Amino acid sequence: MSETLRYDGKVAVVTGAGNGLGRAYALLLGSRGAKVVVNDLGGSTHGEGASTNAADKVVEEIKSAGGEAVANYDSVEYGDKIIKTALDAFGRVDIVINNAGILRDVAFHKMTQKDWDLIYTVHLKGTYAVTKAAWETMRKQQFGRVINVASAAGLYGNFGQANYSAAKLGILGLTKTLAREGASKNIKVNCIAPLAGSRMTATVMPQEMVDALRPEFVAPVVAYLSHDSCESSGQVYELGAGWVAELRWQRAKGGFLPFGDASPEAVAKVWEKVTDYDDEPEYPESTQDSFGPVMGNLERYKEASSKL
Ligand code: NAI
Repeated sequence: MSETLRYDGKVAVVTGAGNGLGRAYALLLGSRGAKVVVNDLGGSTHGEGASTNAADKVVEEIKSAGGEAVANYDSVEYGDKIIKTALDAFGRVDIVINNAGILRDVAFHKMTQKDWDLIYTVHLKGTYAVTKAAWETMRKQQFGRVINVASAAGLYGNFGQANYSAAKLGILGLTKTLAREGASKNIKVNCIAPLAGSRMTATVMPQEMVDALRPEFVAPVVAYLSHDSCESSGQVYELGAGWVAELRWQRAKGGFLPFGDASPEAVAKVWEKVTDYDDEPEYPESTQDSFGPVMGNLERYKEASSKL
């Protein structure tokens, strides 16, 4: 048997923890010794209204199971207030799970400015605001675990979710950069793209699937990524129903335009190579990797022109 993963002495902030996935994260961490800030605005799936009920209920659940928790009812856009709740109640913040979310699904040609702004505000700005407020404390502690929440819609695109996809992939970019900036201070930042039944997915899934895809399948992965022992950072994991896998970029080897021919016709000639993933594909992990072939080709161009 492997060692039980515990969170004693750790303070976890879980946003949007009044329902669905966030509730499952908060309950699991609370049951394993973490002190939990249960944040939830308590509004609708579309981002309307507010209530204290959702957060209060989960705080009660954690406490009645013998754990420690406090509620916070602020919107994630006011991240500093949420982190202040953690610092006031427990004196530190070790784990931030940026889970709060809403949907405003509509085809792009019908999307209003409000649909765009609300999704951006809750998902990307909210993730920024809560993380930013916790960051200095994590740096000083030389410990932090941040779990951000992307979505398959962001990774692959999905009809009717231009606002949501943009925000969710933005969250992955934020994750990758913060993983680099946090590395020297033992702050690990990862991202998940879950699939689970919740009031959110009940708007697009049959009830049978909502019931089967329990958030409790996702929570252990989030708990693992939140643990001291987890060394991963800057990664994104797709998961649900007890399956989890890391996702990475793959790039075709690519095509080189012939020296002296920077024409669209030259591009057409190499297009097959540009899109061929079978011939020695690469797996870039950094901007250095990304720029590698560009810089290499620049050298070849320089050499070729010096011979003219
Ligand atoms: P949910 O609707 O059950 O829970 C979201 C919670 O966030 C709600 O309790 C809501 O009150 C809270 N919330 C909304 N706006 C808030 C704000 N401004 N400040 C604080 N709290 C706020 O939804 P679910 O499914 O549990 O989603 C959790 C996260 O997972 C979201 O970020 C969602 O986009 C993401 N996700 C979920 C998937 C799924 O299959 N359920 C798929 C991909 C991503």
